[in-house]
Amino acid sequence: MTVSAPAAAYLRSPSGRRLLDSQCQTSVALFKQSWSTYHKLLEVDFLEHRALYAALRQLLLREAASTAAGAAAPLAMLDLGCGDAMQIAGCLRECGAGVPGGALPLGSYTGVDMSAAALQAAAAYLAPVLQPHCSVELVEQDMKEYVGSCPDQRFHLAFASFAVHHLSLEGKAEFVAQPQIQTSSCSCLRCSPAGGLFVVVDIFRREGESRERFMERYRDNIAEAVARGIIDEEEAVPIVEHVTNHDWPEQLSDYRGLAAAAGFAAAECLATDSKEFGRLVVLRK
Ligand SMILES: C[S@@+](CC[C@H](N)C(=O)[O-])C[C@H]1O[C@@H](n2cnc3c(N)ncnc32)[C@H](O)[C@@H]1O
Repeated sequence: MTVSAPAAAYLRSPSGRRLLDSQCQTSVALFKQSWSTYHKLLEVDFLEHRALYAALRQLLLREAASTAAGAAAPLAMLDLGCGDAMQIAGCLRECGAGVPGGALPLGSYTGVDMSAAALQAAAAYLAPVLQPHCSVELVEQDMKEYVGSCPDQRFHLAFASFAVHHLSLEGKAEFVAQPQIQTSSCSCLRCSPAGGLFVVVDIFRREGESRERFMERYRDNIAEAVARGIIDEEEAVPIVEHVTNHDWPEQLSDYRGLAAAAGFAAAECLATDSKEFGRLVVLRK
């Protein structure tokens, strides 16, 4: 379904029915509360996402340049756990996606997220950047279910930013090894002219670091954001609670292991933030 305007009425729900504004109001309120804190951290680049997204921009432009000659059609991108898509919308704008003759010839963007409220926000960020020249589809669904049930969809690039860490190690392995991802023409990741590309921006543990030690470092980092007046103590509590209870960062070596087990030839780290929380990692067939 094409998003022609930043409106909730164009989002596709799991049942396929349209979500009307009134159905989303409660979740939108909750979403705004927690994401406004996240945005305060992003605004001052406290989490150093800009460096990771700068590396992503370079990667996308390199890939576009190398596949442009063989690509018969503009590229199709899948964004798993797209959230409000604010960061990727900015990156795509800087790549010239959505602009005829732009450096990144993007024909379609498909965002998948469990949160209808996040998808509403995503529509507002993406439509002005990509439309009318690039189609935008936003799907409210578990991303694991989505990659397991999209045999007719073809993507040149699969992308997930700060979303895969919500899965356990087993869940991650299952995710990258979905039959639809791993088998010939049904694949999300193998149908790339370049042979398949899965780009992950996410938090990672240092090599040899326990999850507990990572969480200590993360708590210290958020305490620093409070000390610097970027967020207040009340805002820090749900962030720490969320990360402690729901985030499962892996070591890069774990990713390499699960990528190899799923048939990827390489898992290359292209960028790491200075505090060694976030990385840009590319899995190639
Ligand atoms: C921290 S946000 C990141 C959003 C965006 N990709 C970014 O980098 O700014 C994580 C997002 O992943 C979504 N998410 C987490 N687990 C998911 C799953 N299993 N299926 C679909 N979405 C998921 C959440 O709803 C949330 O919007």
